[in-house]
Amino acid sequence: MFSARVPPLGSSRVARVVARLRAGGGPLLDLTTSNPTTVGLTYPPDLLGSLDVPDGLVYRPHPRGHLEARRSVADDLASRGVEVSPERIVLTASTSESYAVLFKLLCDPGDLALVPQPSYPLFDYLSRLEGVVSSPYQLEYYGRWRVDLDSVERGLEPRVRALLMVNPNNPTGSWMAADDLARVRELALRQDVALVSDEVFDRYTWDPAVADRAGGLVNDPDLLTFTLGGLSKAVGLPQVKLGWMVVGGPDRLVRRALERLDFICDSFLSVSTSVQLAAGTLLRAGRPVADQIRARVRDNLGFLDEAVARYPGIQRLRAEGGWYAVLQVPTLGSEEALVLGLLEEDGVLVHPGYFYDFPRESFLILSLLSPTEEFRDAVARVLPRASG
Ligand SMILES: Cc1ncc(COP(=O)(O)O)c(C=O)c1O
Repeated sequence: MFSARVPPLGSSRVARVVARLRAGGGPLLDLTTSNPTTVGLTYPPDLLGSLDVPDGLVYRPHPRGHLEARRSVADDLASRGVEVSPERIVLTASTSESYAVLFKLLCDPGDLALVPQPSYPLFDYLSRLEGVVSSPYQLEYYGRWRVDLDSVERGLEPRVRALLMVNPNNPTGSWMAADDLARVRELALRQDVALVSDEVFDRYTWDPAVADRAGGLVNDPDLLTFTLGGLSKAVGLPQVKLGWMVVGGPDRLVRRALERLDFICDSFLSVSTSVQLAAGTLLRAGRPVADQIRARVRDNLGFLDEAVARYPGIQRLRAEGGWYAVLQVPTLGSEEALVLGLLEEDGVLVHPGYFYDFPRESFLILSLLSPTEEFRDAVARVLPRASG
């Protein structure tokens, strides 16, 4: 009766243990959070006031979103050195929805999207729900993350329509290196494959060497590109539901893409009028939230590095930005056994590398968003157990 787009349902062993511990009411230090609204940040008290304006009672939809809201997104990008026309911006309710829209635009059922591995675990589901198959290309760590270009070449079979990248990537924190990107561009161009750069974490880049990389594909002269962003990470407001895509590339291709995006988005008109009217204010007034997140990430990372230095068997992998840290730890048992031990014995929840499709064991992923005290307490429990 039901479509195979929804995968077999069920929860992992780790999720079942978490549910049991939470039901028992025991304290759990959570180092997996990606929800900025529950980690003790201070939001400006009237931040959401801009959602409640009389103009919100009038419905005048536009498939790409209100021009004023698109101008606000363009202004915000310009303030960070990325020049784009509001005409090339399309609003959505979230970045996840942007992916759904792009799969509709680019792929027929059964077509492929190349996705980085390790990366954001939702790609499999987002593509599958659109009848698209996600097919991995590998990122490899040699003191810094690089693309395994052979895996891109091998992966680019005729049914591939899009190549996705995340800059900085979740959870590796890596920007695609400039020479890897140059080669990926060449390969994509040869096969008419669109490039999608998810830059939701772009303002959480701490390595000055990549500081000017945001929006690097928005004015690509040859290739059709899509650069994604959204309020959820930009100003820590996932519940407000506003994302955007910047369509890049040569005029002729961009025009054809935008005509089709208008058709797709007009069929749903999913972005609320209120959030469109508020977009400019939220992007400006939310900056202190992004500042606090940057400070939190910096503090937690600094503490983690000092603590890790006392454990020769553990290494924090180099990253350039994002909200996560990756620890490579000795393989004394399985990642799952380690994560379950941390849960049951130490009351700490961390993600194992396999959640993000790391190709081998053992890796732990720690959210740097967690409140500082909780983070320190949890790290002090994770490191001794992980080092054996
Ligand atoms: C890389 C990446 N892209 C997109 C999203 C989803 O963003 P949104 O809340 O705008 O759907 C996330 C959420 O964690 C993410 O990590």
